[in-house]
Amino acid sequence: MKLVIGGSGGIGRGLLGAWAGQTRFGTYYQNQPKDETDADIHWLPCDLHQPDWAERLSVALDVNQLDTLVLATGLLHRDNQKPEKSIRQFKRDWFLESMLINASAFAELADMLQGKLQRQSELKLAVISAKVGSISDNRLGGWHSYRASKAALNMLVTNVALEWKHRLPAATVVALHPGTTDSRLSAPFQQGLPKGQLHSIEQTGQALSSILEGLSSAQTGQFIAWDGSLLPW
Ligand SMILES: NC(=O)c1ccc[n+]([C@@H]2O[C@H](COP(=O)([O-])OP(=O)(O)OC[C@H]3O[C@@H](n4cnc5c(N)ncnc54)[C@H](OP(=O)(O)O)[C@@H]3O)[C@@H](O)[C@H]2O)c1
Repeated sequence: MKLVIGGSGGIGRGLLGAWAGQTRFGTYYQNQPKDETDADIHWLPCDLHQPDWAERLSVALDVNQLDTLVLATGLLHRDNQKPEKSIRQFKRDWFLESMLINASAFAELADMLQGKLQRQSELKLAVISAKVGSISDNRLGGWHSYRASKAALNMLVTNVALEWKHRLPAATVVALHPGTTDSRLSAPFQQGLPKGQLHSIEQTGQALSSILEGLSSAQTGQFIAWDGSLLPW
């Protein structure tokens, strides 16, 4: 059984589509997707602003039945808020909201799972991070809140992977970089991309699902790109 938190998003939908024929759960935030081709997806509401969102999810489904759980929510911009080009555009509220959605949500999810999963769980837990959250790869700067919240997320993935080596030794925790994918999140930033660099949600869904399929607990704590290469933190 598979769950994508943020299943209503571009990358979430791509992943759920790649798992056609399997038992699939997805969460939505604003509108429940209505799609005849994927009518068998079980949709659950989820709002990361609610302090007990993860607990609510664990009431709606048995997390011990899951073989794969992907956290595919994320925030880069809103109607009235673009990613910062300069530190002069820094706003505390936007930074804290980015931290909540992009970083804290993963910690809250891992906290809930550690409380519920049986010790022998072989769960594969993946979170969609982003290469721009890599500190050592950062050569351009900018996008302060997004980059910082993804870097915080990457640290939390490392920490949870280390903790679960003892608590849930058969489980796997990884961060995935999906590559630039045609979604609401990337839409304002697609102009000028070299040909072939923008992937469809179906391409990304296939790429990430095959990485997840081949994942073993020996890989826990890795930061893996859509093409299978390892990324530096
Ligand atoms: N697209 C890219 O090129 C790209 C590149 C690198 C990394 N990423 C990362 O990939 C992940 C998915 O991005 P995407 O491109 O699929 O974006 P997207 O299409 O905008 O999807 C975002 C998802 O997050 C959900 N969400 C947002 N705020 C939420 C909240 N407060 N509570 C619960 N759910 C919430 C959305 O729900 P609704 O649909 O209901 O609003 C949607 O399911 C993000 O972490 C992003 O940073 C994307």
